[in-house]
Amino acid sequence: MKILYAGAITFLHRGGFWWSVTLAGLTPLLWLLWRAASGGLGVDPVNTINNVTGRAALITLFLSLSCTPLSAIFGFRRALTVRKSLGLMAFLYASLHLLNFVGLDYGLNLKLIVQDALLNKPYILAGGLAFLLLLPLAITSTRGWMKRLGKRWKQLHRLVYVVGVLAVLHFFWQAKVAERWEPMAYAVLLALLLLVRIPQIRRKLSVRSPKAVNMAARADRTLQQFE
Ligand code: HEM
Repeated sequence: MKILYAGAITFLHRGGFWWSVTLAGLTPLLWLLWRAASGGLGVDPVNTINNVTGRAALITLFLSLSCTPLSAIFGFRRALTVRKSLGLMAFLYASLHLLNFVGLDYGLNLKLIVQDALLNKPYILAGGLAFLLLLPLAITSTRGWMKRLGKRWKQLHRLVYVVGVLAVLHFFWQAKVAERWEPMAYAVLLALLLLVRIPQIRRKLSVRSPKAVNMAARADRTLQQFE
């Protein structure tokens, strides 16, 4: 038992944390592939894929948004090492969600997509805009783009909060009244994530001394450059 425990700790220390989070993040995709292969996607497979990919996109997006506060407030610096892969997973699930909608739901009928969806369902517009904003963030997530854009990289990547707002709006708009508690819960979470970006609030909440918070913030900025 002790050996297993020691092995798990070593694994986590040697990048095991990154692998664990990445594999956990990929489970909705693996689940979908397994269910599709075994014919177990239910009576409405398009709806099942839509639910799973939409939720997975939102959850991984929110987890990636939580990494900086977890590091700055609780000193959990390792969270920063998974921020990028969580963000890319959000993009992957949003792309699958969009492909399911365009390909399986609307059979690639662009005229129908514009007339029935884009012009009549505002939540589709909000989702589409969220996806369009996520696209440049995913493209510029590499170290090369980070260097090329310099200070502008950080400004551009602040758009992730706009993506969060649009995604929650999209989720809220399409939900039935009785089911609106779920998007509302995400809205509250997003408001908290935005609040803890304010340095004064961050300092007050921090479980560490203000000096340690400032030092960690500086270290985090350095770490971000090498991510
Ligand atoms: C072009 C982009 C998008 C399109 C066309 C789209 C389309 C849709 C559609 C048709 C639904 C189902 C509505 C219904 O059941 O009546 C839906 C639900 C949903 N979408 Fe999107 N979406 C897009 C982007 C996004 C993004 C970027 C996210 C998250 C980051 C997202 C998250 C969700 C969630 C969580 C649901 C609710 C799933 C459920 O419980 O049924 N969507 N979307």
